[in-house]
Amino acid sequence: MRGLACLLALAGLAATESPVQKPLYPPSKPNVIFILTDDQDAHLDSLDYMPFVQKHLLEKGTHYRSHYCTTSVCCPSRVTLWTGKLAHNTNVTDVNPPYGGYPKFISQGLNENYLPVWLQEAQYNTYYTGKLFNVHTVDNYNAPFPAGFTGHDFLLDPFTYDYLNSTFQRDRELPQSYEGAYSTDILAQKAYRLLDEAVGAQRPFFLTVAPMAPHCNVFMNGTGLDDNPVFSFSAPIPAKRHENLFEDVQVPRTPSFNPEQPSGANWIKGLKRQNETNVDYNDHFYRTRLRALQAVDELVDGIFARLYEHDILDNTYIVYSSDNGYHIGQHRLQPGKSCGYEEDINVPLIVRGPGIAENASTDIVTTHTDLAPTFLQLLDIPLRRDFDGDPIPLTQRQIEVAKTERQEHVTVEYWGFAAGEGIYDFDLSAYNNTYKALRIRGKGYNLYYSVWCNNEHELYDMATDPHQLHNLLSTDKQNTQTSHTILNLSISKVVPRLDSLLLVLKSCKGQVCVKPWNALHPHGGVSTLKGALDARYDHFYEVEQTTKVHFEECVRGYLLEAEGPQFDSINRKEDAASWFFRGGLPWYEWV
Ligand SMILES: *[C@@H]1O[C@H](CO)[C@@H](O)[C@H](O)[C@H]1NC(C)=O
Ligand SMILES: *[C@@H]1O[C@H](CO)[C@@H](O)[C@H](O)[C@H]1NC(C)=O
Ligand SMILES: *[C@@H]1O[C@H](CO)[C@@H](O)[C@H](O)[C@H]1NC(C)=O
Ligand SMILES: *[C@@H]1O[C@H](CO)[C@@H](O)[C@H](O)[C@H]1NC(C)=O
Ligand SMILES: *[C@@H]1O[C@H](CO)[C@@H](O)[C@H](O)[C@H]1NC(C)=O
Ligand SMILES: *[C@@H]1O[C@H](CO)[C@@H](O)[C@H](O)[C@H]1NC(C)=O
Ligand SMILES: *[C@@H]1O[C@H](CO)[C@@H](O)[C@H](O)[C@H]1NC(C)=O
Repeated sequence: MRGLACLLALAGLAATESPVQKPLYPPSKPNVIFILTDDQDAHLDSLDYMPFVQKHLLEKGTHYRSHYCTTSVCCPSRVTLWTGKLAHNTNVTDVNPPYGGYPKFISQGLNENYLPVWLQEAQYNTYYTGKLFNVHTVDNYNAPFPAGFTGHDFLLDPFTYDYLNSTFQRDRELPQSYEGAYSTDILAQKAYRLLDEAVGAQRPFFLTVAPMAPHCNVFMNGTGLDDNPVFSFSAPIPAKRHENLFEDVQVPRTPSFNPEQPSGANWIKGLKRQNETNVDYNDHFYRTRLRALQAVDELVDGIFARLYEHDILDNTYIVYSSDNGYHIGQHRLQPGKSCGYEEDINVPLIVRGPGIAENASTDIVTTHTDLAPTFLQLLDIPLRRDFDGDPIPLTQRQIEVAKTERQEHVTVEYWGFAAGEGIYDFDLSAYNNTYKALRIRGKGYNLYYSVWCNNEHELYDMATDPHQLHNLLSTDKQNTQTSHTILNLSISKVVPRLDSLLLVLKSCKGQVCVKPWNALHPHGGVSTLKGALDARYDHFYEVEQTTKVHFEECVRGYLLEAEGPQFDSINRKEDAASWFFRGGLPWYEWV
């Protein structure tokens, strides 16, 4: 019973306590392997080029086609994912200090308050290899160490995005350079080692494998901790064995690809059309992403080979996602993320495991804020009150129920600049890339609504305009389509509802973020946009709701003085509170 003694010791039980009859960690507690890629799109067909992801995950699991990140850039998105909180509630809103990066994660007190820590408290073993956050560097990796890991081997800045010059840092050891070796291949070896270690420990485990591909290659001279770091972006670098693949492949030529007419709002509508040289380069950039993903695909196969070998597939969930999406050429944008358009916010999510339908897909709306709650629920760990998301339905039956009951919105928020990651046209106007947005997909409507920090508005009816080319709220008169209807109603009926919803979401906390209509309708009765569009609420939305989403100015962080009105500062606060205690069930009764 050496194993049991070890378990007891790890659980901190005194040796003199009465012996425990049954194992503390019954084998029924499942394991999780979470594979998190960096900047992988759901709209540029990247999954089509990953045969092992198709074989092991898509064909054997459920594909969440309407899965979204809520802030389309690495560090804020990852912090949201690991905490279950929207970026406005973590205040990690950027990749670099002062508003983001690992130092901001630490100073916000989140290192004591995120998923790995909660998993360990629930007696899970936790392992991680790859990129954790931006500005987690060779200088600050131990000040402090990220909390909550049984074993880790992190990629560190300034080498995180250097495909051929990576540095990893294992447990309490010194950082080690792998100059000249291919980053994803090194990472694969580390992932396999951690998996073997996890299985050998004979306790339920949660292993995260976070390759940096298909992020662009970045040479950093200095880090975000330095005063003037130099970043130089270039196309991703594939492993030698993949460098000649897909020679004829191009970015999908959808209607939004380098369109003849400008589209979008704010700085995006001012972009000039890309010339042939630029388009050729972007196609090259696209191919290098697909090539760089091949090593990730092999890594996925390698993980499954070991899961078969260890015979633990019937008790292990494998989850595959990416921190944010990616665009190349849509709306004339140079390669990058940071926008609220579908390419940037809609990301892959595939789940395989016991009880999960094989070769299935669903369009129920899920987001990265839902992942931490999902993992806790999956592992039978109580949910936390301050989660801004809700567990993702995993079984076919749960998904069926969700089709009528689950929320239909995604809160989208962004602060700061947008960087083009190609070699052309770094546009300084992209400096003001701060916005709030709302993505909503319900029966009879499919919309994107945004308010930028310069107070420009966007509304796309994605049922008729899936590529988001016709802004129904464009200030450019020629482009305005006042006759457009949604659910047979003029957009002048729809917009006030969307704006009130966005006002709630941009300042929500906890379950208000999940059930925002309850904050507007404290006495219940409305849980969808369709419900709110009922004519009996016309007066409420069109006359009473005078507070609109707007910004005071464009700033790079979450500064309340720039954010404009907050929902909880307006007069419905009392009503919402009374709903919480009287009308609706408290959230912990729902779970
Ligand atoms: C790797 O990084 C180190 C430190 O910046 C540098 O001295 C070295 O030249 C780099 N090697 C390669 C292959 O880029
Ligand atoms: C890197 O930074 C150092 C110190 O600022 C500078 O001397 C060096 O030229 C830089 N190298 C590159 C390749 O930018
Ligand atoms: C194409 O566009 C790029 C980026 O704006 C520019 O640098 C380049 O000079 C242009 N090439 C031609 C042939 O016009
Ligand atoms: C998966 O489902 C599709 C149809 O949705 C079908 O064409 C395909 O053969 C299925 N694949 C497997 C491996 O069952
Ligand atoms: C960004 O917004 C600020 C304040 O709203 C404005 O002063 C500045 O000119 C803008 N910068 C650019 C490059 O548009
Ligand atoms: C939409 O409105 C028109 C005119 O008001 C009406 O004829 C039509 O039946 C309505 N359609 C739906 C789907 O409600
Ligand atoms: C978010 O963090 C920034 C930088 O530390 C700080 O200036 C700002 O006040 C914080 N925002 C809120 C709402 O706490």
